[in-house]
This record gives sequence, structure tokens and C-alpha cells, in this order.
Amino acid sequence: MRQKRDFLEIPDFSTDELYELLALARRLKRGDYRGQPLAGKTLAMIFEKSSTRTRVSFEVGMFQLGGHALFLSSRDIQLGRGEPIKDMARVLARYVDGIMIRTFDHGNVKELAHYADVPVINGLTDLLHPCQVLADVFTIQENFGEDLSGRKVAWVGDGNNMANSWLNAAYRFGLELRLACPPGYEPDRALFDRARGAATVRLTHDPREAVEGADVVNTDVWASMGQEADVEQRRRAFRGYCIDPDLLRLASERAIFLHCLPAHRGEEVTEEVIEGPSSRVFDEAENRLHVQKALLVTLMGA
Ligand code: CP
Ligand code: NVA
Repeated sequence: MRQKRDFLEIPDFSTDELYELLALARRLKRGDYRGQPLAGKTLAMIFEKSSTRTRVSFEVGMFQLGGHALFLSSRDIQLGRGEPIKDMARVLARYVDGIMIRTFDHGNVKELAHYADVPVINGLTDLLHPCQVLADVFTIQENFGEDLSGRKVAWVGDGNNMANSWLNAAYRFGLELRLACPPGYEPDRALFDRARGAATVRLTHDPREAVEGADVVNTDVWASMGQEADVEQRRRAFRGYCIDPDLLRLASERAIFLHCLPAHRGEEVTEEVIEGPSSRVFDEAENRLHVQKALLVTLMGA
């Protein structure tokens, strides 16, 4: 029997496998791939946090590939009443062919993957958001060509699940990643060190230093889901970290602006930038669909 594979973080796939996955996503987006390899298959989608893009793109993606998706809010399933993850994992795996989960603690996803003998996909944890950053590197390819190595990416803002996933992308694709985060809001140390062993990765407290000459300028909200109580403190800490036209002008002439959305205009980005000519945020959102379909085919298609 073929061993099941999960996608909990970008480095779960080798660099070659990731490039193959992105190539399949390109075929899917062009309409060159019309197979329905997931006919008769079901993906369970567990959400312990809100979602627009992740929920809709996975559900539509499953439908387009011939399969079915089940939306399971933790408010409605027994997980929300304390059923152990290890029990839920073994039960769901008897019914469905794959599980996507959005949760808080990254350890929950690992536990789910350990106990479920069907593929598990990380739809966002406090630590990582790998599906989003895969869609983002796909968007970079659309704008700058397929080879990602050495591409200059600036991250300005919180050292959050997105920043950590960019570190993982740098690690696998050899990106040149510069992160500007306020003191106390740096990304995960272990992921930073691993990426630094394989790619050019720098951390600064100066957004201008990160953005200077970058091909891609990228940010996210200052308070992620689950951090609502810290909003005011974070607004103070992130003052000066807004991507506005002056900051964006320091990037390369052809630079693109990315944001995983939802965005808070006037906080991490101005209206002019997100609605401006450099912004690719809606292509980026669309690309979630194509990249995740490639992922579903790869993990659940055989
Ligand atoms: N970018 C992203 O994951 O969006 P949702 O929270 O709407 O799924
Ligand atoms: N960092 C954000 C990403 C939302 C898609 C959060 O975790 O809320």
C-alpha cells in the first residue's frame, strides 16, 4: 500500500515536488487539465477559525475535480465539545479520503495527521499558512517567471504564520527573503535558522531596509485570528510598518504587492497600494484555487 502523505508545511515536499505541483497548478489555471480524479472522494474541512478564501477555494476545488467537500465548523462537531483529536481523526478517516483543518495550535494538526490514515492538509495554524504561501509563490512565477531562486521578497509586519511560511518557502526555493518585524514580533526562531542554512534570509526592524530593491512586497494584518485582545498594543508596536506609496517606491520598479487578505486598509497597507497598479492581491486569492487543486490531485488523486 502506498503511504499516505500530508501537507502540514511547505518542506513536506521536496523542491522538485513543489515545482511539479506549481506546474500542475499552471495547467489547471490554463484549463489544460480537465481530469476529475477525485470522483467519489470526499474532503472533510474542519474550521476552528473563520475563513472566506480557504473554505470556498477548497470546496470549489473539490467539486471541480469531481469530488465532494464537507464543511465542519468546530461549533457544530464534537471537537468543539472536547472530543479528542485522536478519536476524531480515526473516525473521519473511516468516512473520508482527506482532511483539511484550520486550527490554533500547530500541534493539533500534527496529532490529526498522526492518527488519520488519510492525507491531512494544513489550512492555517498559529504557526503556519502553507497553502497561502504556495499560492503566493505561484503568483510570483506568473509575474517574474518560473525560476524562484534568488527572487527578492520583502516581508513587512508581524512574524506570524505567514512570515513563518515565507521562511519555509525561502528554504525550499532559495528565495532572498528580508523580514522587517518590530522587536518582540519576530518569526519562529527554529524556522528562521533552518531557512538561513539554505537561503539568504535577513531580519531587520527597519521596513525600508527590507523593501529596498525587492521584487515582492508582502504584508499581513497586525493582529491575527485569536489575537483580538492585543489589537491596541499591536497598533502601537507596528506604527511605521504600513506599506504606503513612499515605502513601495523603494522596491524594484516592477515590484508587486501581495497580501493574503483579509486586509485592514489604513493599518498594514494603504488604500492606494492595495488598489494600485502593483497590487496582485486578487490574482493571489484566485491562485489559492489552482494551487490547492494541484495539491488535492497530488495527495488524494491516486
Ligand atoms: N487568506 C486566507 O486564508 O483567507 P481566509 O481566512 O478567508 O481563508
Ligand atoms: N495571519 C492571519 C492570516 C489570515 C489568512 C491570521 O492568522 O489571522
